[in-house]
Amino acid sequence: MYISSVKLRNYRNYESQVIGFEKGMNIIVGNNGEGKTNLLESIYLLSTTRSHRIDDNKELILFDKEFGSVEGTIISGENRFKLSVVVYKKGKTLMINNSLIKKNSEFIGKLNAVLFAPDDMSLFDDSPKIRRRLFDIEIGKLSTIYMYSLNNYLKYLKERNNYLKGNVDNLMLETLTEIMYDPQIEIIKERNHFINRINKYLSTYYNQISGENHQLRIEYKSVIQEKEDEKIMLDQMKTLYENVKERDLYLKQTNTGVHREDYVFYLDDKDVSLYCSQGQKRTVILALKMAVVQIIYDIKKEYPVLLLDDMFSELDSSRRYNVLKMIPASIQTIITTTDAREAELIRDKNVSFINIEKGMMKNA
Ligand SMILES: Nc1ncnc2c1ncn2[C@@H]1O[C@H](COP(=O)(O)OP(=O)(O)OP(=O)(O)O)[C@@H](O)[C@H]1O
Ligand SMILES: [Mg+2]
Repeated sequence: MYISSVKLRNYRNYESQVIGFEKGMNIIVGNNGEGKTNLLESIYLLSTTRSHRIDDNKELILFDKEFGSVEGTIISGENRFKLSVVVYKKGKTLMINNSLIKKNSEFIGKLNAVLFAPDDMSLFDDSPKIRRRLFDIEIGKLSTIYMYSLNNYLKYLKERNNYLKGNVDNLMLETLTEIMYDPQIEIIKERNHFINRINKYLSTYYNQISGENHQLRIEYKSVIQEKEDEKIMLDQMKTLYENVKERDLYLKQTNTGVHREDYVFYLDDKDVSLYCSQGQKRTVILALKMAVVQIIYDIKKEYPVLLLDDMFSELDSSRRYNVLKMIPASIQTIITTTDAREAELIRDKNVSFINIEKGMMKNA
């Protein structure tokens, strides 16, 4: 799958621009603040209907304008279609080939894209929320059961938390607790499955980029162990909630469940968050993103678009070279950089350059 062009109107610092992309590797060159990340963000918006940087879409609209829009032309096998997102101060509209799409879920993933952003480094911060969010998005793109179970679970969790704030009847609490078991069992199975798949690829990619020989893996810290026999999982769930019941009543909130789970990265059995350098962490994230790309390919039989924002910084020149070398020409890749010389590294590859200056495309 690839995106052949985007048309931006009143989007961030772009007033009106059409920007074309090649099938293989595209390098977006520009100084700080010229609009490189904005351009990648607009593609990410077409993929997910959201920005990766902000929660409130109205910040995407060019200052003082009423609305902004992004339109992309996507080519997937023999198919060619147009995706548009129009952002208003209050809300947005989604269109496929100019027909209005009511449900976000019918739009999300029509353009499959995997993004590496400098903010991804927060994956190694204290808060497990960021890690859960990343995996929720990726697993959700591949599994409707996951998305469905997670939505249900979050709804039940909210109900239970609200109930704990008032007068609690034991039987009612039990009912509200038991309803949370099944979706969690589905979620745990899907999370396990995804992490196992990722782990098959992680070390290979890490070693390809670093030119070294390491073991990289993710450990999924689930609240209960996955078992083949679901009855055992149900029993584990029951015990889990019995054990925290007193605390839940005292703190008036649900203190266990898949909303509290975490993922830990290990490089040669050392916790990446605690022991790795900035450059090593970046390498870990790049290896993770490449593994996600590969899993999407395994399932969909089509590569997603790979968006790499500022990935060169903090990598030494051999790692930069290795990343560029490693990405197959069959994956459309869009990379931003402030320094066009990066691409000298891979002269033998077919690379197309896009120069950006103050929200406008400049001819090279
Ligand atoms: N809603 C908006 N309307 C107009 N301009 C905006 C809006 N939002 C952001 N900008 C401008 O966009 C520019 C930042 O663009 P962007 O983040 O894409 O830069 P960049 O090229 O990625 O820079 P860097 O190399 O520093 O990462 C800033 O100058 C900012 O003021
Ligand atoms: Mg940027």
